[in-house]
Amino acid sequence: MPDVTVEELSVRFGSTEAVRRVTLRVPSDRITVILGPSGSGKSTLLRSVAGLVEPTTGTIRVGDRVMFDASRRLNVPPEQRQLGMVFQSHALWPHMNVLENVMFPLRQRRVDRAEAHVRAARVLNMVGLEGSETRYPGQLSGGESQRVSLARALVYEPLVLLFDEPLSSLDAPIRAQMRREIRSMQEGLQTTMVYVTHDRAEAEELADTLVVMRRGAIEEIGQADQVLTRPASPFTADFLLDAIIVRGRCTEGRVRAGWIDAPDPVRQRNHAHPPLGRGGPLRYCSDWV
Ligand SMILES: Nc1ncnc2c1ncn2[C@@H]1O[C@H](COP(=O)(O)OP(=O)(O)OP(=O)(O)O)[C@@H](O)[C@H]1O
Ligand SMILES: [Mg+2]
Repeated sequence: MPDVTVEELSVRFGSTEAVRRVTLRVPSDRITVILGPSGSGKSTLLRSVAGLVEPTTGTIRVGDRVMFDASRRLNVPPEQRQLGMVFQSHALWPHMNVLENVMFPLRQRRVDRAEAHVRAARVLNMVGLEGSETRYPGQLSGGESQRVSLARALVYEPLVLLFDEPLSSLDAPIRAQMRREIRSMQEGLQTTMVYVTHDRAEAEELADTLVVMRRGAIEEIGQADQVLTRPASPFTADFLLDAIIVRGRCTEGRVRAGWIDAPDPVRQRNHAHPPLGRGGPLRYCSDWV
């Protein structure tokens, strides 16, 4: 499966710069989670990759294929990008049953009815909805509707799957179950997945690579377990860990730091990350122990 490369990408809406010079390589065959507070540009970045938003500058490539290049005025339409997208609101066609909803993208791509039927039934099986083919969206729970939209995104075997907070309208147990299913599906299909969320638990469960966004730019990127436990940026530490950040100066190889917003100065500890040189500036996070 291809990787996705974004270079120097900016998106402007009037006076708002929603994405600011983002350069990012999404590796193939794994899940990259984009995490960040509301308004940080996550959806805009994802929608640019999908072709639903036209960036102001930069390039987007999927594998070797250039999908967008502002300088060459090249902009491949969304339906030709071979990407599957699953949104928070899973707009299913209310007048079509589950099977017809899932067959729809194939019929749009002129796959004949018999083959579309076989392929739709196969992905419905994969998302655990076998037996629900003849039900209508109005007769489904939120979790089931979400599975149908997942099936609809998977059915035409996209090279890359893009998720924008697909589970946020579901309650906690179903969300956890769906997360596990997305994870095991990724392992089975080996697709490249990009998953946008502002939920730390989702990032923890799903992410191989974690990208943290802040005000339209990438704040930090790295192996998920590294970023989640030992973030390099104070902003990430604060956002992910509710950490107490200290700044100070290292003396005698021990931490003598003035706390900022610390409830209890006695909690000062003799650990620091990264390792400190004597006299060097210190930025220390209370959870790095
Ligand atoms: N179509 C649009 N027109 C104008 N401004 C927009 C548009 N879409 C997004 N924005 C603005 O761009 C910025 C980034 O929005 P975006 O939706 O990408 O954030 P987000 O990180 O996905 O936030 P959330 O977590 O709330 O979904 C915000 O300031 C938003 O108001
Ligand atoms: Mg969003």
